[in-house]
Amino acid sequence: MIHKREKTMRAGEAPTSDLLGLLMESNFKEIKEGGNSKVGITIDEVIEECKLFYFAGQETTATLLAWTMVALSMHQDWQQKAREEVIQVFRRNKPEYDGLNKLKVVTMILNEVLRLYPPAYIRMRETYKKVKLGGVILPPGVQLTLAMLLIHHNRELWGEDAEEFNP
Ligand code: HEM
Repeated sequence: MIHKREKTMRAGEAPTSDLLGLLMESNFKEIKEGGNSKVGITIDEVIEECKLFYFAGQETTATLLAWTMVALSMHQDWQQKAREEVIQVFRRNKPEYDGLNKLKVVTMILNEVLRLYPPAYIRMRETYKKVKLGGVILPPGVQLTLAMLLIHHNRELWGEDAEEFNP
């Protein structure tokens, strides 16, 4: 795919306006402006970027949507509120970006699902030099795990109803 698209771009044709097209167009410009192939990224790196976007963008969004369906099945009062809002904003038309920004109830629901069932539930970091974090001094090479799931369910932060679905 990449080779094929490179050929069409070299022939001066407009790139396809999908993610790979945008990535290749920006890389192509970078190389052209920099005057040599040392600037810009290699084809292997383009492939890696595509994998990252696929994993970072697709898995997370799919997980969020799946849990949203589960939560709305369990809490049909919110399902009803969401449906009413969607019908009120879009009527019988296809959803479009401006309308999506007007969805307040749906946004509240998505945020609550992200809190209770976060697709990315831990973050990892590693110190590469001595660093002071809060009141603790860490040497290089320490692996830190930030358990977002626990923070999202913490009663001290969210109150006694932290476990409840309450957008
Ligand atoms: C509900 C959906 C999403 C969630 C929950 C989510 C969550 C996250 C989190 C927590 C990080 C930080 C990871 C870290 O620094 O350890 C991250 C990074 C990233 N996300 Fe997402 N993400 C979502 C959607 C997307 C989408 C749709 C895309 C792209 C199409 C995307 C692309 C990325 C990329 C490229 C990074 C790495 C940024 C960097 O280089 O530091 N994500 N995401």
